Amino acid sequence: MSEYDALIAAAKQSRENAHAAYSNFRVGAALRATSGRIFGGCNVENATYGLTVCAERVAIFKAVSEGERGFDAIAVVTDTDTLTPPCGACRQLIWEFCGDVPVILANLKGKTEIIPMRALFPKPFDSSSL
Ligand code: THU
Repeated sequence: MSEYDALIAAAKQSRENAHAAYSNFRVGAALRATSGRIFGGCNVENATYGLTVCAERVAIFKAVSEGERGFDAIAVVTDTDTLTPPCGACRQLIWEFCGDVPVILANLKGKTEIIPMRALFPKPFDSSSL
């Protein structure tokens, strides 16, 4: 039992919707807003490969487009023994909207790891750099 169980469950559920026809690597993410709402996302691939959007960014764009701004955790779920951290592009986006939140990595076997965003993204370019 952890305070992130519901978030991990939401990420697992979203992963079921992954459109991963090219990589067959299905990813689910879930973002928790300070309002309490949870927004899920899955990776959405495309035949032109480069237009693929990661699960984390789908979750962020869904939440932001619904008017949410404050977030306090994000979970990423894959079916791998080695847990999957967010890619570089997603780290930039997570930092922009969430800042130094806990990133909860999990797999389908119940393995989990919590990494603070500042550890994944130690020297960010952000609005304070402008
Ligand atoms: N992917 C994500 O959705 N999130 C990550 O954190 C890593 C990678 C997706 C992108 C692509 O659809 C597939 O995984 C393989 O790279």
